Parts: sequence; C-alpha cells; structure tokens
Amino acid sequence: MTAGPRPRHLLDFQDWTPERLNALLDNAETMLQVLDRPVKKVPALQGLTVCTAFFENSTRTRTSFELAARRMSADVVSFAAGSSSVSKGESLRDTIEVLTAYKVDAYVVRHHAAGAAHLVAKYSGKPVINAGDGRRAHPTQALLDAFTVRQEYGDLSGKKVTIIGDVRHSRVARSNAELLPKLGAEVVLCGPATLLPEGLAALPGVTLTTDPRQAVKGAHAVMALRLQQERMNGGYLASLQEYADTYQVNEGLMQHAESGAIVLHPGPMNRDLEISSEAADGPRSRILKQVENGQAVRMSVLYHLLVGRDQA
Ligand code: CP
Repeated sequence: MTAGPRPRHLLDFQDWTPERLNALLDNAETMLQVLDRPVKKVPALQGLTVCTAFFENSTRTRTSFELAARRMSADVVSFAAGSSSVSKGESLRDTIEVLTAYKVDAYVVRHHAAGAAHLVAKYSGKPVINAGDGRRAHPTQALLDAFTVRQEYGDLSGKKVTIIGDVRHSRVARSNAELLPKLGAEVVLCGPATLLPEGLAALPGVTLTTDPRQAVKGAHAVMALRLQQERMNGGYLASLQEYADTYQVNEGLMQHAESGAIVLHPGPMNRDLEISSEAADGPRSRILKQVENGQAVRMSVLYHLLVGRDQA
C-alpha cells in the first residue's frame, strides 16, 4: 500500500496516512539509537534553520524540539513571545514575516489560539510543526504517546488506551483520539460530564464514558490528563477533592485495567490531583519514558518534513 503524498506540515493528522505515521515511528527507533551514542549528533539538517516560536509556555516540547534540531546539526532560533515585540502589539503575521526574512527554514509553533499554526504556514510558506494550538491539537505529543505504547507492546493494533480527566480543554486528548485509531488502537475518553465534550464520540474508534472503572477495564495504557484550571472559568467541577476521589489515576483504579497496564501523563502533572504520586512514580509509570521518547520522535518529525525537501 502507498504511503500517499508526503505532507508538507504536521498541523494535525488529517494528511497523514497510517503507513506514513508508522514510518515516522519506525524512524524514531533509529533516532533513539542515535541518542544512545557517545556523540549524539548526525548531520541530517546541516545548513537548515529551525525556529521554535512559542507564544505559550512549555518545558518538554520546546526543550526537546530544540535539542532534536541541534542533534541533527540544524541552527536553532528560539523565539519567546513574552520577551519579544509581541508584547508591544506586533501581530502574528508581522512577527512571522520578520523571522522568515532571517531565512528560517521551518517553524515549530505553540499558540493559545486554535489554528495559529495554520496561519504560520500561510504567512511563512515554510514547513510548520504544530507544538500545541489552543485546545485543538498537539500532534507530536500524541506521536510520542503512541510510540511509548508501541514500545511496550510492539504494536498498537487491538490495544485499548484510556484517557482520563479534563478532556474538554485537552489538545493532547484530541490528537490522541485522532491518531491512535489510525494506528489500530481503541480510545476511551473518560471524565466528568462537564469535561467530556459529546462531539468526540463521533470520531472513529473513540468512545466516551463518565465511569472510570468501566473506562479502564481491559485497558493496556491509562493516561491521566492535567486539570487545566487556567482554561476554566469555574462551573466545571464541584470540588477538586471530589474530582480526585472519583477520577484520580491511582493504583486502586489501575487494579481494574489489564494486569501489566502502563500509566502515562503528558505533563506537567498536578500530583495527587489527577494522578497519585504512587502511580506517577511506580513500576507502571512510563511518564519519564514519554519524555525521553519525545526527543527521538521530534527528531523523526523534523527529518520527515525537512530532509530531501527545499534544500539547495
Ligand atoms: N506535554 C507538554 O506539552 O508539555 P510542555 O507544556 O512542558 O511542553
């Protein structure tokens, strides 16, 4: 089967076939081997400049993308909106046109507005990787989540991945709900009704439930989502304690999953709220493995979008 035309951007998974997504994950295995070498550097992106344009804060995504680009010998320009002329009112379009005039070859963009990465693609004419736009999509997080589950089980086909928590505000949940069924996995989204948008049930391979025990039954991986209190205006939860009592991912809940089920969290965590410290640090946890895999997966994404294209 053909992998289809090569996508120019990674904004979401619309243009990405399962074959191409699997190739990208296969290549991330090779990148992990590069990261295990004494000299963690390959010349793949030599001569290219990658701009990380972050209009929202980040620890994992930004650091791992910058390391990923440098590991492949790219130059990296790191743009942080908070310390830029955006604070003087400069528009997204003007900002991107300025950066593009400095001969940036590709953008990694995080923005609080859904669709911002699409606009950067339009204004720059360069390949763009969406590093999180509002609550819409965070495709490289979903790729590293898929990679981590695949690493555990060898294959995503027939696996059940349960995602519990603040689904409403989560771009991670949306991207996983789009990606994992393309790779053969079943996705269950779970949370209190106020944080569980019914429309997501229309996605193929995705089901919704407010019952956490039912959600984790037979699950191979259980992901806790951060309660995004900064995106809530109140009214979603009666109390945080009540939320934790019902929806916290902890060993008690994990007893209802498959015996070897793993625990995931995209980070940053509210420890002992959506996830117990025991679960976050225990033998089921693959949370730091997700972090480690993120760098290799992002190397693979940069490689797929940039190598052999637009190079003089
Ligand atoms: N998971 C994630 O996107 O983390 P950061 O906000 O630290 O990048």
